[in-house]
Amino acid sequence: MRDLLTLHEIGAEGVAEILALSESADLGAPLAGKGVALVFEKPSARTRNSMEMAVRQLGGHPIYIQKDEVGIDTRETAEDVARTLACYHSVIAARVMDHDHLTRMAAAADTPVLNMLSDTDHPLQGLADLLTIKQLVGRVEGARVAYVGDGNNNVAKSLAEGCALAGAELVIASPEEFQLADPPTGVRQVVSPAEAVVGAQVVYTDVWVSMGQAEETARRNAALAPYQVDEALMALSDDAWFLHCLPARRGEEVEAAVIDGPRSGVWRQAENRMHTARGALAWMVG
Ligand code: CP
Ligand code: NVA
Repeated sequence: MRDLLTLHEIGAEGVAEILALSESADLGAPLAGKGVALVFEKPSARTRNSMEMAVRQLGGHPIYIQKDEVGIDTRETAEDVARTLACYHSVIAARVMDHDHLTRMAAAADTPVLNMLSDTDHPLQGLADLLTIKQLVGRVEGARVAYVGDGNNNVAKSLAEGCALAGAELVIASPEEFQLADPPTGVRQVVSPAEAVVGAQVVYTDVWVSMGQAEETARRNAALAPYQVDEALMALSDDAWFLHCLPARRGEEVEAAVIDGPRSGVWRQAENRMHTARGALAWMVG
């Protein structure tokens, strides 16, 4: 039984094992007769649906729980929420405002805890990103990846940790104030989008304003405007694939012609969320 809160914590071996499980056609039914709690403090299309389907495919029963139904640290403490859900479920999965809630829940309950996105990390997305890079480029190790935009968000951090652990070469381009704090060894940070994209096989971006940051919208949009991924930027790459975790804002972080164009891999990436959700759950419950 293992937690999955960040990719850094599960290490290169954990990432490799989950990717192998994600590619396996038959994982059996390790969740037969078992419940999985899916707690959401923020909205979700991909994570909720891929997780519910993955739980069913592994023989288990998912329960979708909205923010106010459990009220982490409002109705009761994060620890008591975890201890309660552990009475009924074999995995506690949560999308939280504050990553610390996940670490406290994991410490309080013996049941494994899965991060479905926090303010700092999005490991399930990072796993799907690695699987997608492997499929599109043919390998992860040595693949040249550029991330352009808000380099200090949850998606960028998990991508950086995933690339570092799996041996992909990642260059992040963002304004200095939006650079990833404490990047993993081997991940390069630059200010110029062109410098990151030249020679890249994958170009990745995410929204400029993440969930919970609405009050910073004007400042973020102004600072990140020069970081839009458009056709001119993509033309500097090595005929790169375009990736985006979604949801996307066309005309902001990405031009419609890029995300809807022939080198966009975003729908394969979205589908891979289900395969990696299955792999992650199977790995957690052994
Ligand atoms: N990429 C992703 O996590 O999407 P949702 O927010 O819709 O789950
Ligand atoms: N960085 C985005 C990712 C959404 C899947 C957010 O946190 O809103």
